[in-house]
Amino acid sequence: MKQKDFKKVVILGSTGSIGISTLKVIARYSEQFKIVGLTAYNNIDILLRQVKNFQPRYVAVPRAGQAKLKAGLNGFLVKILDVNCDLPELVSRREVDIVVIGMRGSEALIPFLSAVRAGKTVAPANKEALVVAGDLLMKEAQKHGAKIIPVDSEQSAIFQCLEGRPHKEIKRVYLTASGGALRKVPQRKFAELTVKEVLNHPRWRMGKKITVDSALLMNKGFEVIEAKRLFQLDVNQIEVVLHPEAIIHSMVGFKDGSVLAQLGVTDMRLPIQYALTYPRRLPTGLKDLNFFELKSLTFERPDIKKFPALSLCLEVAKADGTLPSVLNAADEVAVEAFLDLQISFSRIYPLVEKVVRRHKNCRHPQLNDIRNADLWAREETKRLLN
Ligand SMILES: NC(=O)c1ccc[n+]([C@@H]2O[C@H](COP(=O)([O-])OP(=O)(O)OC[C@H]3O[C@@H](n4cnc5c(N)ncnc54)[C@H](OP(=O)(O)O)[C@@H]3O)[C@@H](O)[C@H]2O)c1
Repeated sequence: MKQKDFKKVVILGSTGSIGISTLKVIARYSEQFKIVGLTAYNNIDILLRQVKNFQPRYVAVPRAGQAKLKAGLNGFLVKILDVNCDLPELVSRREVDIVVIGMRGSEALIPFLSAVRAGKTVAPANKEALVVAGDLLMKEAQKHGAKIIPVDSEQSAIFQCLEGRPHKEIKRVYLTASGGALRKVPQRKFAELTVKEVLNHPRWRMGKKITVDSALLMNKGFEVIEAKRLFQLDVNQIEVVLHPEAIIHSMVGFKDGSVLAQLGVTDMRLPIQYALTYPRRLPTGLKDLNFFELKSLTFERPDIKKFPALSLCLEVAKADGTLPSVLNAADEVAVEAFLDLQISFSRIYPLVEKVVRRHKNCRHPQLNDIRNADLWAREETKRLLN
């Protein structure tokens, strides 16, 4: 295959759960993809192994990690960039075709925006950027001819069910939720939960932040906002359905009463590969679904008394403006405080709610308003923490 026939890929956050799964897909189809850039934050050792296996041209890490990276490169020719300021330049490079956004947090917003402005195909697993500034990202993508093909499994399922169908035919989107680690744990026990218990997700192995958000159903609330942005839906068109088996990744109901669902094993390589090879479907090497083993698929209404984060997210999704940015930033700070053992699990939601209620919403924000709201919410949450 000639060099120009390869699809050239940058993975932001290659050392995380999404990044590692993306590299597994790329290794399987090494004759179709070439890695141009990889980025990491703390895990320099994992990055070094990836550099040796995939030989990217560029890697980005924080300045503090660059000496260790250089020392471990052992003669490999790689240009080292600063992850805190060079990502916009990396994703916009001429040779890049696809940008996979597997880094966590709202820091992904600026490189995401640069990638769409450069007209790239963007495959976001990251949801924070879409939550805080999805409208802007979608508008800019349209303006610059960039494609956004979601990787988050629920959004990928909706994308797959919708393919080629006019927006006006959509009646409702059913966003499925496995229910996280605490579906069967009584709320009175929330204050005593250990980090290990909260991270014990029954269906998915993911990074710590998203796993804590899943336990709170905050993650599902973020996905409502994400789906609203990606598919231009009204919040009332999105219904969250608990589906503990996590086999149906989401469904779309159409005006004629038909409902299409996307089903598959719980492995992120499936939506990642679909985004990379879109519109083709190629073997993933994953197990097929066995309906006779599954026997039944069940559905429940989410318990919003036990998981009030979901209703808060719906409220924020309706109000929109700078509130999603505040919700996301407060949640990032509060979840980190829980993971650092500063607060109990039961304090995360009240903290986030308090910050959201204190914010004076700017209904039609520019990028600067969104970023200022993010900074304000981080400060306010830290202040309340102390
Ligand atoms: N995991 C899943 O199955 C899944 C599913 C759907 C959506 N998502 C979304 O995908 C994103 C990543 O999730 P994950 O589970 O893969 O998280 P993760 O395992 O924690 O990985 C996060 C990645 O981001 C890097 N990173 C952390 N802080 C950064 C910063 N300030 N600047 C640049 N890079 C930074 C990390 O680098 P180091 O490891 O080197 O520190 C790592 O490569 C999140 O937005 C999540 O909500 C994940």
